[in-house]
Amino acid sequence: LASIEVDVSALEPGMSLTVKWRGKPVFIRNRTAQEVEEANAVQLAELKDPIARNDNIDAAAEATDLARSAGEGKENWIVMIGSCTHLGCVPLGQSGDFGGWFCPCHGSHYDTAGRIRRGPAPTNLPVPTFTFTSDTVIQIG
Ligand code: FES
Repeated sequence: LASIEVDVSALEPGMSLTVKWRGKPVFIRNRTAQEVEEANAVQLAELKDPIARNDNIDAAAEATDLARSAGEGKENWIVMIGSCTHLGCVPLGQSGDFGGWFCPCHGSHYDTAGRIRRGPAPTNLPVPTFTFTSDTVIQIG
């Protein structure tokens, strides 16, 4: 299936955008240093779903903030399928009890790394295959 390229040059820290890929919303967020720091400070034992769910790395990798992000040197970037892992509603950005995303359908709270922290959703928001083809362009798929 087709991949898409997204220009993220306009995304300052704290900004995000949503694109459509394979019929689903994909959230791209340039996280602030504080958001990365907060997500980093979370202990794995606090997580409801301890698996990274990142298609770019080992399927068994733990859900550290780094493993959820675009990786070393690009920890500020997070790319995720914007479909609640409960029943598929689209979560709202920068909301919820953990400053990340909130799904209003049944109250699932995700943190700034897209990890499920409270509510009925069983797993973290999945990270699709993606790569930076330049400093400002992300290819998804
Ligand atoms: Fe998101 Fe139910 S679909 S909480």
